[in-house]
Amino acid sequence: MITLKVNGKEQTLDVAPDTPLLWVIRETLALTGTKFGCGIAQCGACTVHLNGHPIRSCVTPVATADGADITTIEGLGSEDALHPVQEAWIAEQVPQCGYCQSGQIMSAVALLNNSPNPTDGEIDAAMSGNVCRCGMYGRIKSAIKTVANGPVQMFDPTATQEVQHG
Ligand code: FES
Ligand code: FES
Repeated sequence: MITLKVNGKEQTLDVAPDTPLLWVIRETLALTGTKFGCGIAQCGACTVHLNGHPIRSCVTPVATADGADITTIEGLGSEDALHPVQEAWIAEQVPQCGYCQSGQIMSAVALLNNSPNPTDGEIDAAMSGNVCRCGMYGRIKSAIKTVANGPVQMFDPTATQEVQHG
């Protein structure tokens, strides 16, 4: 038996010790916000927190997480409110296809937990393992800086957009 605390809830699981943590998260616990991308620790789509540290769950045998605290994208924020990083992601309109986004957000949250006002270099280093096929790297960095700089101004899709001519 493997025991995990996932998003604050104790889970006792009858799974093979070498099962990738990602499989347990997605298949056993049905928390499908965490994505499978490459399966070889190269894309970051499967990023979750293990005792507060971002890890690639696709290459993490569940046995190495026995007794640990795991946080997935579903564990951010609360029932009533998004996490500030999620709010910033919406305000900066980061997601495009969305596939990489839960991993990006988990890496960004871990960065900001450790370094609330990160430098460009710290952002680049922390986010370098998260690939975005849609190329949203500039907006990802802007969103991280938005959180670092204080309250997030939410994007309002109903607001009148000023059209620039010529
Ligand atoms: S699926 Fe884990 S790093 Fe790509
Ligand atoms: S938003 Fe499409 S891969 Fe990042």
